[in-house]
Amino acid sequence: MKNHIVLGVDIGGSGIKGGLIDIKKGEMITERYRLETPQPATPAAVAATFKELIDHFDWKGPVGVGFPAIVRHGKALSASNIDASWIGVDITKLLSKAAGCPVYVLNDADAAGIAAMHYGVGKGEQGVVFMITIGSGIGSALFMDGKLVPNTELGHIYLKNNKEVAEKYISGNARKARGLGWSAWGKQFNKYLLHLERLFSPDLIILGGGGSKQFANFQDKIQLNCRVIPAGLLNQAGAIGAAYYAWEMETTKPKH
Ligand code: BGC
Repeated sequence: MKNHIVLGVDIGGSGIKGGLIDIKKGEMITERYRLETPQPATPAAVAATFKELIDHFDWKGPVGVGFPAIVRHGKALSASNIDASWIGVDITKLLSKAAGCPVYVLNDADAAGIAAMHYGVGKGEQGVVFMITIGSGIGSALFMDGKLVPNTELGHIYLKNNKEVAEKYISGNARKARGLGWSAWGKQFNKYLLHLERLFSPDLIILGGGGSKQFANFQDKIQLNCRVIPAGLLNQAGAIGAAYYAWEMETTKPKH
């Protein structure tokens, strides 16, 4: 693959963002390009916007895509923060056809976690590590000795006294909708993390997504036995991790 360059894309509820990623450095080497996610975000509409992004970069090589749902063997198996018509759709097939280049798709939080583990604060971390992303939803990625266990969906656990899944109370969107400041939200988020700690005894929890940029505003509310640190890498983690995943898939693919 030419110069270890892959196009990394992050499909989210409000924006579809991407840029060319240097896999050796784990850096975006172009300006990040962002398009509004079409509403409703149906498969056909998202595929058309995705093609626009490919055309913007005039890209012909491999593309890695982080997608906000369970992604099993390229297919969407859930749709909490995207249009329900995605369920059952072969995302890989749809986007490869739209782009005219090889596309590899994985869950968006798994992508952000991969970026943190390979290039960021998780580099070299052994044992049980979680990435929890705070955005429109709550995403999770689980790593054991650096190896990803995909599609953990820990934003969908139920907490005591809550009628709906955890992300309905503690995602970035839920915080805004409930009118909570970072401190009040931080207290509730700590309860959520404590529950995860009880269930999985992680060695480290890395916080990602837009909400993690506010870490300084709720850090004092986080009281766990394990280390909890923000990811850094800001908005580009999803695209960088997706690009790494695509590169890995391309380079390990059996040659005919
Ligand atoms: C979805 C996850 C996704 C997370 C962050 C959740 O609602 O179920 O698959 O990783 O949002 O986008």
